Amino acid sequence: MKPIPLYSPTIGINEKKNVISCLDEKWISSKGKFIKLFENEFKKFTNIKHCTTAVNGTAALHLCLLALNIRQNDEIIVPTFTYIASVNCIKYVGAKPIFVDSDFGTMQISIKDIEKKISKKTKAIIVPHLYGYTCNLSKLLKLKKKHNLYLIEDCAEALGSFYKKKHLGNFGDICTFSFFGSKTISTGEGGMVCSNKKFLIKKVKKYKGQGLSVTNKKKYYWHDVIGYNYRMTNICASLGFAQIKKISKILKRKKYIFNFYKKNLDAKHVKFPNEVHGLDNCYWLTVIFFQSKKINQIINKILNKNNIETRPTFYPIHTMPMYKKKNNFKNAIQLNNLGLCLPSYPDIENRQLKKICKIINDYFKK
Ligand SMILES: Cc1ncc(COP(=O)(O)O)c(C=O)c1O
Repeated sequence: MKPIPLYSPTIGINEKKNVISCLDEKWISSKGKFIKLFENEFKKFTNIKHCTTAVNGTAALHLCLLALNIRQNDEIIVPTFTYIASVNCIKYVGAKPIFVDSDFGTMQISIKDIEKKISKKTKAIIVPHLYGYTCNLSKLLKLKKKHNLYLIEDCAEALGSFYKKKHLGNFGDICTFSFFGSKTISTGEGGMVCSNKKFLIKKVKKYKGQGLSVTNKKKYYWHDVIGYNYRMTNICASLGFAQIKKISKILKRKKYIFNFYKKNLDAKHVKFPNEVHGLDNCYWLTVIFFQSKKINQIINKILNKNNIETRPTFYPIHTMPMYKKKNNFKNAIQLNNLGLCLPSYPDIENRQLKKICKIINDYFKK
C-alpha cells in the first residue's frame, strides 16, 4: 500500500505553466507580474482591503509587530497551544509573550484567561485561528475595545474560514497567512500580510523591502529604517496565483474529507472539536480526540506502521526549553495529550480515507 502523507499540495497544469513563464521571461526574483496578480486575487477572496505578499508566514507575523510598533517590554498575549511562529515573532521584536490557556472544546485561545492576564503593559493579542477554527470573536473584540489593544489574527491555518460571513483576518487590526506546502494553498514557502488599514500595510511593505525610503525618492538606495528582505519571489507568487484561483474546489474537497471522518469514525471513542456559532470552517486539518493519551499513542503507532502519516496536536510552548514556565495550562496539555491530526489533503482517495477509519475503528472492536 502506498504511503498516505498527512498533507500534499494539489499541483496542476496552471501552476506548472505559471512557473515556466517566470523562467522563460526571467522574472524570478521579487519583481514580476504574478506578485500583484496573486495579491489582487487574494484580496478578492478574503475581502480584506490591503494585502501584501511575504517570504513566509513567520516573517509575515514579524512584519505585523514591526508595523504596530511593538517593542521591548511590551506584553503580547498569545496561547501556549499554538505553532511556535506565533510566539517567536514576539521575541524577534524584544517584547514579552504572556501565555494563556485554551478552551478545550474549540482548541482556541481562552478569552476568560486573556481577561485575567491583561496588564498595563499589554499592547496586543495574537489570536491564531488553529486548524481552521476560531474562538468567539465577538467577545474577543469587545475585550480588545475595552482595553484598547491591538489584535493580530494569525490565519496561517484558516484560509477559507469565515465567521459571521466575513473571512477570518477581517476582525483584528492586521493578519497573516502562510502558504507552506501543507497549507490550504501553497507557494512552496510563502506568506501574506493583510489589513483593512492602508497605513499598516504601507509600513509592512517598507519593512519587508529593506526599509527603503519612500519619502526621499531622489536618492536611490536610501534606507531610513532597519528593514528586512522578507519579499516573496515572482515564482512563488505564480504558484499562489494558480492556487487561489481554484480554492473553492480545494475547500469543497476538504469539507468532504472532514465529514467523511466524522461520519465513519466510531463516535463512542473519537471526538471532534467544537465550532463556535457563526463559523464556516475550512477544515484545514482534521483533528480528532481520544479518551486517553495512551490510546492516542497506540493508535498513532498503528497508523504509522500502516504507512499513514499523522501529526500530534501542538506541544504547549510553555513546556519548551526557551519558554519554560511553571504555569499549569491544563487544557493546552490535554489538547496535546489527546489530539491527533489525520491526513486531510484534497487528493487523498476515498478508499484511503476508508482505510484510515477502519484501522481506527478496528482498534476499539478488540
Ligand atoms: C499557526 C501558524 N502560525 C504561523 C505559521 C508560520 O508560517 P510559515 O511556516 O509559512 O512560516 C504557521 C505555519 O506553519 C502556523 O501554523
